[in-house]
Amino acid sequence: MRVIIKENYDEMSKRAAQIVAEQIRLKPDCVLGLATGSTPLGLYKELIRLHREEGLDFSKVITFNLDEYIGLPPEHPQSYHYFMYQNFFNHLNIDPRFIYIPHGMTQDVERFCNWYEKEIERFGGIDLQILGIGANGHIGFNEPGSSLGSRTRIKTLTKKTIEDNARFFEKMEDVPKYAITMGIGTIMDAKKQLLLASGKNKAKAISQAIEGPISQVVPASILQLHRWVTVVLDKDAASMLKMEYFEE
Ligand code: PGA
Repeated sequence: MRVIIKENYDEMSKRAAQIVAEQIRLKPDCVLGLATGSTPLGLYKELIRLHREEGLDFSKVITFNLDEYIGLPPEHPQSYHYFMYQNFFNHLNIDPRFIYIPHGMTQDVERFCNWYEKEIERFGGIDLQILGIGANGHIGFNEPGSSLGSRTRIKTLTKKTIEDNARFFEKMEDVPKYAITMGIGTIMDAKKQLLLASGKNKAKAISQAIEGPISQVVPASILQLHRWVTVVLDKDAASMLKMEYFEE
């Protein structure tokens, strides 16, 4: 596991964007696994800049998002569809046919999840998966206790995640309680992993994920078993790490 610690959120985002840009230049038709949340916003902003100013080409890139709330239509401002178009896709030359995000309004969740897995496979699997981490150690919406071999499926969100998300909704009752998420097994099948974290409220989850035991109590700890993982942190998120890490 390669752990890179940067001074602040901006530098973390720029370093992560370099890694994603390298992947796209290496394989222009690569498959990216994408995450939502506040953490990757700076990374997306920097990729948009690289597209505009340096011609980074997204025309052949295929993307699969990790998750989506059940019950929110794509045009809902808190849906992950909306988030991805507003903050990323609308600003790139990406082919809309190559954008995959779980459908939160699907009538048949199980069938949809199987189809999603098959589509990932059809494109030869995910080349680079971008991940954030929840304060409770979740990746995607794989909450503590998720099977480490799980595939794309419906998940009930924990109280902690619902509370963390409440800031985006008017009323607590409006916060979705279920989501479709790629499973931990789905995520682990990606050829490369890029985990980002910023801020003191992620420090404990990061220390448990990187330096603690592998456990379904901290789903992100499974990444210790992956052969290609880069973790890019800011100083605050790294503040509880005990081992020594190097930039190069
Ligand atoms: P955040 O969420 O980037 O908004 O902190 C990350 C996550 O919960 O996976």
